[in-house]
Amino acid sequence: EKGTYPHFMLKEIDEQPIVMRKIINEYQDADNALKLDEDIRKAMQETDRVYIIAAGTSYHAGLVGKEFLEKLANIPVEVHVASEFSYNMPLLSEKPLFVFISQSGETADSRSVLVKIKELGHPALTITNVPGSTLSREADYTLHLHAGPEIAVASTKAYTAQIAVLAILAVDTAQAKNLNLDFDPLQELALVANAMEVLTDQKEEVEQLTRNYLATTRNAFFIGRSADYNVSLEGALKLKEISYIQAEGFAGGELKHGTIALIEEGTPVIALATQENVNYSIRGNVQEVVARGANALVISMKGLEQDEDAFVLPKVHELLTPLISVVPLQLLAYYAALHRDCDVDKPRNLAKSVTVE
Ligand code: F6R
Repeated sequence: EKGTYPHFMLKEIDEQPIVMRKIINEYQDADNALKLDEDIRKAMQETDRVYIIAAGTSYHAGLVGKEFLEKLANIPVEVHVASEFSYNMPLLSEKPLFVFISQSGETADSRSVLVKIKELGHPALTITNVPGSTLSREADYTLHLHAGPEIAVASTKAYTAQIAVLAILAVDTAQAKNLNLDFDPLQELALVANAMEVLTDQKEEVEQLTRNYLATTRNAFFIGRSADYNVSLEGALKLKEISYIQAEGFAGGELKHGTIALIEEGTPVIALATQENVNYSIRGNVQEVVARGANALVISMKGLEQDEDAFVLPKVHELLTPLISVVPLQLLAYYAALHRDCDVDKPRNLAKSVTVE
């Protein structure tokens, strides 16, 4: 039920802090340590390479998860679009572990990969919001997202739940491997939940940004480097799927290799700046597009902000910034769709779960 909300999407954006707290509870034991299935822990310890398989927004969450697993748990990770992997399988490592990320657990493209890798005898873990779903039943292990039903076609709270669960999985694996980490995911996720609440209270500001930057445009670019690049892909997907504005996410440094030709007077470029080590270089990329007439909207994180930034995010752990930088992007997409009289919850040509290949 959407209660007093005009759309499920807005309700689901607002539920994200609650979902973070639910995940913290579900994955915490009585001693405040991480609680995870022993078999999953073992599978993570035994693998020499994780293959993440997903589609759309879940694929974007997988890109963020790769960073967690590589940086925290020291496991090499490949992230693949399910529909591509299915027909063009890469060379596999000796002990691959397949991780399927799927809100619905019913995506046919992912299922087709699951069937193939099971024939080859490889283990599979499904991370899903629907524990009884096909991908959950057919995999060896399941991690539950605990996001509650997601009704709007555009995925919001499932994306952030996927990222939170991937962070927990990475840290649990690191602990099982006795790696020394100075990162408590449950504490950091609690801070993320608070930051998300601050952001969901800033709807009016984001609505105003939508008017300033996206009111009449036919296209928009999202740029970022490193973790921000992964989120810029998701920001672009949200905007295009519900507002029908043509949008693309790009790595900040890659624009000049071709795409910058599309920048004209007034082209909106939404830049994320949440990562200290690339703050200087992403700002260089912003200057490059501004010099060609772009209308640049910089979203930075507290501590890295500059005077001209239009929106400053509360500070959270640098690895977890995708969980908060995506919130204003979800809201931008929402208001852009609303202002264009689009059907926010049921965009044209799309279904909530894609059960055909
Ligand atoms: C975008 C969106 C889709 C899904 C994709 C995978 O907002 O919802 O891109 O993320 O179809 O769906 P699941 O996660 O159910 O496998």
